[in-house]
Amino acid sequence: MCGIVAYVGSRNAQPILLDALSRLEYRGYDSAGLAILNGHGVEVRKKSGRIENLAKACQAKPISGSMGISHTRWATHGAPTDSNAHPHLDASGKLALVHNGVIENFLELKEKLSKAGHTFQSDTDTEVLAHCLGDAYAKSQAKGEARLLEAVRQTFNQIHGTMGIAVIHSDLPGLVVGARRGSPLVIGVGQGENFLASDTQALAPYTNRVVILKDLEIVALHADRFDVSSPLGSNTQIKVEEIENGMIHSDKGSHPHFMLKEIMEQPRSIENAFRGRLDRDGGTTKLGGLNMSADQLRQIQRISVLGCGTALHSGMVGKYLIEDLAKIPVETQHASEFRYGDSPVSRHTLFLAVSQSGETADTLGALREAQRRGYPCLGICNNVASSIARESDGGVYMHAGPEIGVAATKSFTSQVMVFALLGLLLGRHHQLSANHGAELLDAIVQLPEKIRQTLKHSDSVARVAKTYAHSRSMLFLGRLANFPIALEGALKMKEITYLHAEGYPSAELKHGVIAMIDKETPTVLIATQDGVYDKNLGSLQEIKARGGPVIAVAEEGDSKIQGLADAVLQVPKTHELLQPILNVIPLQLFSYHTAVALGRDVDKPRNLAKSVTVE
Ligand code: G6P
Repeated sequence: MCGIVAYVGSRNAQPILLDALSRLEYRGYDSAGLAILNGHGVEVRKKSGRIENLAKACQAKPISGSMGISHTRWATHGAPTDSNAHPHLDASGKLALVHNGVIENFLELKEKLSKAGHTFQSDTDTEVLAHCLGDAYAKSQAKGEARLLEAVRQTFNQIHGTMGIAVIHSDLPGLVVGARRGSPLVIGVGQGENFLASDTQALAPYTNRVVILKDLEIVALHADRFDVSSPLGSNTQIKVEEIENGMIHSDKGSHPHFMLKEIMEQPRSIENAFRGRLDRDGGTTKLGGLNMSADQLRQIQRISVLGCGTALHSGMVGKYLIEDLAKIPVETQHASEFRYGDSPVSRHTLFLAVSQSGETADTLGALREAQRRGYPCLGICNNVASSIARESDGGVYMHAGPEIGVAATKSFTSQVMVFALLGLLLGRHHQLSANHGAELLDAIVQLPEKIRQTLKHSDSVARVAKTYAHSRSMLFLGRLANFPIALEGALKMKEITYLHAEGYPSAELKHGVIAMIDKETPTVLIATQDGVYDKNLGSLQEIKARGGPVIAVAEEGDSKIQGLADAVLQVPKTHELLQPILNVIPLQLFSYHTAVALGRDVDKPRNLAKSVTVE
């Protein structure tokens, strides 16, 4: 599944499809393919691996034609092989389909089609969808364009699951049909040419005029026009929006990897998160996009944070910030669990959906579920035109700038900063004094400089990483707001080095994990000087007593830790509530330098996608 682009116009489709597709690689990169109408029929190229593999195959044997569809995949059903790559053809070989989503009843449909004589070339759910479409097309009495539209409508009724699709048929030159259910799809409106894509970013060099399709809408796209209709066939009103040119500046500058570039950008990305939002006199913040009145803010009695991966970890730090500043109880939930769980939600709960991309299917699904139950939902997103940003009732943008490295780094610190800003605002509408608010504001203003100071230790972090890079397993420990930082440190390590790493609250060590400690298993212990510093030193001693190496994240000049730990990753001191933002930085650098030492593909680690747009 994951990123799709279609083109119909007068230019050569192949280079346009390849270029636009490369901007969707964040949605998956384990295989890619395209299908173009070449004047005689549908011609397909598809390759496992990155889009560059597909580009090479296309250069070796170019396809000429001015309309086509393309896809970059993150495998769900079937291994990332050439044959499982999209596009997929129907039984006639005349209809080609690309698909972002999951067909949940594909086995049932496949069995039915197999009994009717269909044979399949792949293990994917998408090929079954292509055959369903082809079957409906063959049986339809309608003519021309209406026939393909009817086939799409009928197939919509047969499938359970999600789909954003683009379909072409060799009997219908000049027509691309697109449809969405659950998965996003946008039309790019050009002059004498039109596009379809999973998001607007793919289309940035071609047009800034877009139509965001609503769920269940179907579009018949031609070079000079497009018609959008509902599943019942009636024409629907469309709104062409002009979006800011979202072209990604995808150069790494002087850095060898995007991840390092993005780690190093954090002084600026943090500043962008708070710029224009601080109200020093009121000891508070201004967050214009919340769309909530002061009264509504005062009525909030509980907050529930939804997210996945790194975004959820930022919410876990956010819990400490909001509970400390606003004294509002906060719970954090894996978006995927909330969506299907039965846990009761108390009245006056505000939901916060956190997502860098704003496209993560689990988080989007959870947001919709919370909205269905009637709760107010805000989004904390980086990607401005994203689905979560659009569908939530209001929200706060991180303004971190494009994040290309699959491992989230600057978006994490920006998310935590947004939680600090939100905590302050809520605090000032509840019980926080202006003085305490102003203290935190002062620390926020100084934070970019402290991040700069932290980043200066990158070389020494690299030396420590080299020493421990060949460990089989690592533990990450922290307490209170630094527990999620331990989780985040372990996640970064797993994502880009493939080492086994686990994050735990420090004191949980003795309840099981301590059995893992030996001289080959380093523990990264976050031990900055907060209220649980002495307790953390106790954990450090317990590890040392069992021969385990300890890498401590500690404040500059902490000689006590320096005397006890095997290595120290140094951070400056800041306000206790902001300290987690500084503490995570050496852990980002630690995983980065470990991955480099192990020769890993840092920016595109195996099996992952930047944004997982399927359940
Ligand atoms: C994927 C990525 C993670 C990321 C998570 C949430 O799993 O591999 O690195 O943290 O999605 O992404 P989001 O865009 O919702 O923040």
